[in-house]
Amino acid sequence: MNHGTAHQILRDTFGYSSFRGAQQSIVEHVVAGGDALVLMPTGGGKSLCYQIPALLRDGVGIVVSPLIALMQDQVDALKQLGVPAAFLNSSLDADAAREVSRLLLRGELKLLYVAPERLMTESFLSLLDRLNAGSPTPTPPPEGEGLDFPLPSGEGRREGVRSGIALFAIDEAHCVSQWGHDFRPEYRALTVLYERFPGVPRIALTATADAPTRREIIERLTLEQAQQFVSSFDRPNIRYRVTQKNNARQQFQVFLESEHPNDEGIVYCLSRKKVDETAAWLKEQGWDALPYHAGLDADARHNNQTRFLREEGVIMVATVAFGMGIDKPNVRFVAHLDLPKSMEGYYQETGRAGRDGLPANAWMAYGLGDVVSMRQMLLSGDAPEARKRVELQKLDALLGFCESTACRHQTVLRYFGEEHPGDCEQCDNCLEPVDTWDATLAAQMALSCVYRTGQRFGVAHLIDVLLGKITPKVEQFNHRQLSTFGIGKDLAQSQWSSVYRQLAAAGFINVDMETYGGLKLTAAARPVLRGEQEVWLRRDAEPAKRKTSKAERGSRLREAFAGVNEDPLWQALKAKRMELAREQGVPPYVIFHDSTLLEILNRKPQTLNEMGQISGVGQAKLAKYGDAFLQVVEDAANGV
Ligand SMILES: Nc1ncnc2c1ncn2[C@@H]1O[C@H](COP(=O)(O)OP(=O)(O)OP(=O)(O)O)[C@@H](O)[C@H]1O
Ligand SMILES: [Mg+2]
Ligand SMILES: [Zn+2]
Repeated sequence: MNHGTAHQILRDTFGYSSFRGAQQSIVEHVVAGGDALVLMPTGGGKSLCYQIPALLRDGVGIVVSPLIALMQDQVDALKQLGVPAAFLNSSLDADAAREVSRLLLRGELKLLYVAPERLMTESFLSLLDRLNAGSPTPTPPPEGEGLDFPLPSGEGRREGVRSGIALFAIDEAHCVSQWGHDFRPEYRALTVLYERFPGVPRIALTATADAPTRREIIERLTLEQAQQFVSSFDRPNIRYRVTQKNNARQQFQVFLESEHPNDEGIVYCLSRKKVDETAAWLKEQGWDALPYHAGLDADARHNNQTRFLREEGVIMVATVAFGMGIDKPNVRFVAHLDLPKSMEGYYQETGRAGRDGLPANAWMAYGLGDVVSMRQMLLSGDAPEARKRVELQKLDALLGFCESTACRHQTVLRYFGEEHPGDCEQCDNCLEPVDTWDATLAAQMALSCVYRTGQRFGVAHLIDVLLGKITPKVEQFNHRQLSTFGIGKDLAQSQWSSVYRQLAAAGFINVDMETYGGLKLTAAARPVLRGEQEVWLRRDAEPAKRKTSKAERGSRLREAFAGVNEDPLWQALKAKRMELAREQGVPPYVIFHDSTLLEILNRKPQTLNEMGQISGVGQAKLAKYGDAFLQVVEDAANGV
């Protein structure tokens, strides 16, 4: 047979000039019939690892995916490339499903996306049996046998049509893990693929980095013999920043205006209420913002998600319920207005930015209030004690990350057991190294003030006492008499709040549920109070300095889109893309990614041949859209 080589398909069908990272070895391994386990970060390019082998091998590639909402877009994207593809899930009515099965049996599909619960039905499995039987002559299948719908007679596999099963791809393979948040019981039954179709190569893929999940995937999917391909989980195009909260809304507004005035992004908040309030506030400020959380009815959720995917410039304000299965490539920023629950959560949520590899921002504002409310939330849940302890430890790791003065990329990766040299130039700490200061004395004052006031007051009152303010509360509790009253006048209010935040993050103080958020000392505070332990803290930037910090200026400069929004050609290219997308009812990025439009903008191709050199323009898209975009470039040159 001659389907061309992997490189030809990469170039002609996908329009890309070279493989990324391990893609080529994975493709070669699977094409040769090997099983594979692929660990690659979000946006790393896992799809090509099974799509190209499916195109190179005889028969159809069966892709198991739990993300029903995404299948339509994935199939649309493949059809745009000229690849015959379809999906089968509960969103199809019986007629449409029957049509897909018919195409499948005729050998007219190269890729079929299936929901796991659909795959596991006996009728679908026996359909696969038939495909796999590999009889070279056309044998009309017995009427209706093993199927929950009758087949038109005579429509078995035709001679000359390549048939069989090219491979099984098990996408989002971490769904087999009971410990993850995406556990799907049906995934555990997928061993049947190995038992029933031992000759068909299987490739399992995930962006979940940790070793226990990997072990569970191997065991649950019987992949002991599979070759493992583990990529770096670094996301170098994402710039991590953690900002100290003073007025979160205003800080966020400055961030949006200076860095993302026209971009799509996701804003994460902890509660439904805060999601609603934040979305409403953004709308008042003139931003195109939408809310998303589990409390909205299904229609509203669906509509908001569709607008986010299909339109441009929409900001999604959401709880963490939003995001799994959103593979919109051009999310330019992810902002956390509340703390994520863990490093895993932070990595996963921020990872939704910049899947297209273009520069993106992960921005977080955080303060003492977040530490308090997050601990309260974890402690007040009904989870068993052991589980709570694990969750508190995870939160502590995240807080350590927030307060760290080390390279953020390095800190994130180290958490997942990967080394990174640091100096990434893509995080706040590298761009603007943070001072630390010997805060031993300040810590002693702060902790002793907690102790002297009876371990039941919140931070506002504690700071009043340290600063020697005479407030009604100070009078009421007679706190002027305390030895800590007024001893902290050398530091400003904001510096004390930074001290308390960091002491809480580092575990010297805890929040007491019974006293509604009063601070209490932990055992770790004792050596500090006794003068046996030094405490070094980071020196927070002054609020005024922040607006024009180097990190933010730098990020404006580095923006691949710097100035692009003022360029009429860019606007014209986007308008053409939107027009084509609307005509076909697909998201704009299914036509061309931003990175492709950007290359057209910069190279201004004048011929179809030149257009074909642009990354992301394969043969099918060149034929379909080449002329239209050439016209846009030409019109702009002529000042039309
Ligand atoms: N060799 C390549 N050259 C250029 N672009 C590529 C290449 N491989 C993949 N891409 C692009 O990278 C983006 C991400 O790819 P893909 O959707 O396969 O990511 P993924 O690894 O499946 O991520 P996720 O875990 O989020 O599902 C896509 O836009 C894809 O077109
Ligand atoms: Mg994927
Ligand atoms: Zn760094």
